[in-house]
Amino acid sequence: MARNDRFLKACRKEPVDCTPIWMMRQAGRYLKEYRDIRSKYSFIEMCKTPELVVEVTLQPVRRFELDAAIIFADILLPLEYMGIDFEFSKDDGPQIKNPVRTKKEVEKMRKFVIEEHMDYLLTSIKLVRKELDGKLPLIGFSGAPFTLASYIIEGGGSKNYIHTKTMMYKEPDTWHLLMEKLVDMIIDYLNAQIQAGAQAVQVFDSWVGCLCPSDYKEFILPHQKRLFEGLDKSVPNIHFAFGASHLLKLVKEAGGDVIGLDWRIDLDDAWKSLNFETAVQGNLDPAALYGSRDYIKRRVEDILKRAGNRNGHIFNLGHGILPTVPVENAEYLVNLVHELSKR
Ligand code: CP3
Repeated sequence: MARNDRFLKACRKEPVDCTPIWMMRQAGRYLKEYRDIRSKYSFIEMCKTPELVVEVTLQPVRRFELDAAIIFADILLPLEYMGIDFEFSKDDGPQIKNPVRTKKEVEKMRKFVIEEHMDYLLTSIKLVRKELDGKLPLIGFSGAPFTLASYIIEGGGSKNYIHTKTMMYKEPDTWHLLMEKLVDMIIDYLNAQIQAGAQAVQVFDSWVGCLCPSDYKEFILPHQKRLFEGLDKSVPNIHFAFGASHLLKLVKEAGGDVIGLDWRIDLDDAWKSLNFETAVQGNLDPAALYGSRDYIKRRVEDILKRAGNRNGHIFNLGHGILPTVPVENAEYLVNLVHELSKR
């Protein structure tokens, strides 16, 4: 592996030799080598064992010519230490056993102390950095306060976010208290990852797209701003709000050196609405990897054309890679992006 810093250069909107690419959820079940380890351990056990974290973090960057690694963890892990009891069920994703819905329950949530509670993550980051030996950058990450709150309040994934919105619209003081507690946690969590060696951090706001712009402004923006203001600025940060094309200007106002885009908006339209002031990351539909080579190539060409060789484009999927995609199509994508974007 040759030293490669085109991902970090693109985050800073500096010129690159070709467009960098990494894939959200690039460590995971679509890789046989991941499934082999996963057959012996639970997902949580894997997350909490630094040797396994190092192995699965490196699997995708060994297999493909990716331009960044992302630490293997989950956005829900820190919640355990705030008193949220959850498990990952086989088919339904995360299940929280004690959803938080009242002011009393929010007040009871404990303060998170990363060094005490999640030393395993910091150790994993240091070990991965050692293995990567400066050749590829490592990304750290966290969930955004809305997305974490939606899990805590609903008790799992949700379609209509009824309990979350009920708290927001009916008990705004309770909502704001919960957001404050989560933002305090996230700032410490990400800054500790940066201290341990993360060279960029991504904030995943996977479910905030269910809100209208005025709700985002009132219930999210002040908290999201405080989050980004609190981050260690020695490394770039990425702000990814999924399904949130209608909120892009507000997402930018909240903060982010790089704004993540899903596939529901054309990349040039999105970038233009950001006045080309930030870098952008995206935005291939993850399901495109089920298509023919010809289809994948057409989609990649289109995205690259819309990016127009401007400084500050990081190629990515518009959401996490799906567990059943043909792995050879992921490889095809990575090579194709580099080949077609050579400057
Ligand atoms: O990108 C990477 O490779 C790093 C690892 C990573 C995981 N989760 C591992 C994981 C990252 C960045 C995440 C973030 C995450 N986790 C998000 C935000 C990104 C997004 O997809 O919107 C969310 C919403 C979660 C919560 C979560 N974790 C869900 C809904 C699920 C179940 C659905 C699923 O994909 O199975 C998880 C489990 C999870 N997180 C797995 C992995 C590899 C699957 C665990 C397994 O092997 O069974």
